[in-house]
Amino acid sequence: MTHQGDGVARHQGMAIFVPRAIPGDVVSARIIEKRKNYAIAELSDLVRPSADRVEASCPAFSQCGGCSLLNMRYEAQLRWKRTLVVDALERIGHIPNPPVKSTLPCESPFHYRNKIVLPMTKERGRIRIGAYARGTHEIAGSATCLLHARELNKLVAGAAEVLEELKYTAYDETTNRGLVRYVLGRVGMSTGELMGGLVTAVRKLPKTQAFVRALVEKVPQLTTVVQNVNATPGNIVLGEETRTLFGKGFIEDVISYPELGSLKFRISATSFYQINPIQAAKCYAQAVRFVTPCECVVDLYSGIGTITSFLASKASVAVGIEESSRAVRDAIQNARLNGINNARFIAGRAEREMPRLMASGLKPQAVVLDPPRAGAAPDVLEAILRAAPEKISYISCYPPTLARDLTILLQRYELVDVQPVDMFPHTIHVECVASLKRKHSS
Ligand SMILES: C[S@@+](CC[C@H](N)C(=O)[O-])C[C@H]1O[C@@H](n2cnc3c(N)ncnc32)[C@H](O)[C@@H]1O
Repeated sequence: MTHQGDGVARHQGMAIFVPRAIPGDVVSARIIEKRKNYAIAELSDLVRPSADRVEASCPAFSQCGGCSLLNMRYEAQLRWKRTLVVDALERIGHIPNPPVKSTLPCESPFHYRNKIVLPMTKERGRIRIGAYARGTHEIAGSATCLLHARELNKLVAGAAEVLEELKYTAYDETTNRGLVRYVLGRVGMSTGELMGGLVTAVRKLPKTQAFVRALVEKVPQLTTVVQNVNATPGNIVLGEETRTLFGKGFIEDVISYPELGSLKFRISATSFYQINPIQAAKCYAQAVRFVTPCECVVDLYSGIGTITSFLASKASVAVGIEESSRAVRDAIQNARLNGINNARFIAGRAEREMPRLMASGLKPQAVVLDPPRAGAAPDVLEAILRAAPEKISYISCYPPTLARDLTILLQRYELVDVQPVDMFPHTIHVECVASLKRKHSS
């Protein structure tokens, strides 16, 4: 089969993903897996390379599933990501000629990732820590990943030495035995605070003091060391319990943007925090600029209260709704830390709490929502339509679910524009911010 690709080739209406092919390549590829709506093909011959091809500057590129666009010119990645958004809005959202702007670039497209949770294995007695090879559970990632913050690469190298010295065993998912499942790390890109730790299959960590001492000695930038316990077999990465082994158990980071100002945030081991805060600030600014000034704004899927806190500086009341009670605790602390006293946080699922909040009589002029990849639940969208705010800002990390949810919201709203932001350079992911205004008749 030969295809003129756009990274994803199309054949009789079906999308065919060809890993390591890039948009504009002409390739021969063999279909190796067929699903209902798409297929995966293996690249067998690069017939004519795209003009946008560049040498991938990572030795693990051919196996690692981390940054599939590393062999594509950065400007072309930005253009392609815009096309992904347009395509989803047209095909899934049935929006003709959607008003999608050019993708906002990331000025430093390497070493931008502030968080890692990397699996560990022991192969012939040697510890390996890194990303899995595409479609497998074999470790392929390079110890000096080009996307991870440099501090995190140092942490991975230090942790590998310590785990070897202490003869810790690697967890084996087939037998459900062994100790260490993942190495985790988070860094405050603007504060330099560094968290390191392990996800273990059991609570008892042998030689805990020796582990902490050795890790801090090898990685002196560490400000805190934690242990997360995940005894559940399967693919869930983090468990419920996190123990602080050294330091305060969280890190702090500062997000700044000219029109937003600067706010400081406390981040625990398991709370959601955007992995590229410089680009996240561009999304936040887009949302805040569009929906404020206003009296009352609701921020759905509010995490540790980043957007809610920025909104609070330009609204009379800002209410955040977030499922994770740990993140809500961080959000309350963060509001205090920043001297914000007009933000309120509700712990609970948006599909339950948003209708309840509206039933309590609150009348927001604006709603911001930033759901996970699955998008917003129908009950959330219905509650927003009933609340009828003048403006909605929908931040999405997955254009297909944004497009699906817009089919509901656009019954009463007009799509002003969509701003793609390159939050994850060299990967196929794109973040975007959709701005919606209530139709006059609604
Ligand atoms: C993409 S993150 C956005 C967080 C925050 N807005 C930020 O920028 O840091 C999505 C958040 O939604 C939360 N979440 C997931 N499902 C939820 C639900 N059904 N109701 C409320 N929050 C939910 C997650 O815990 C996570 O914090």
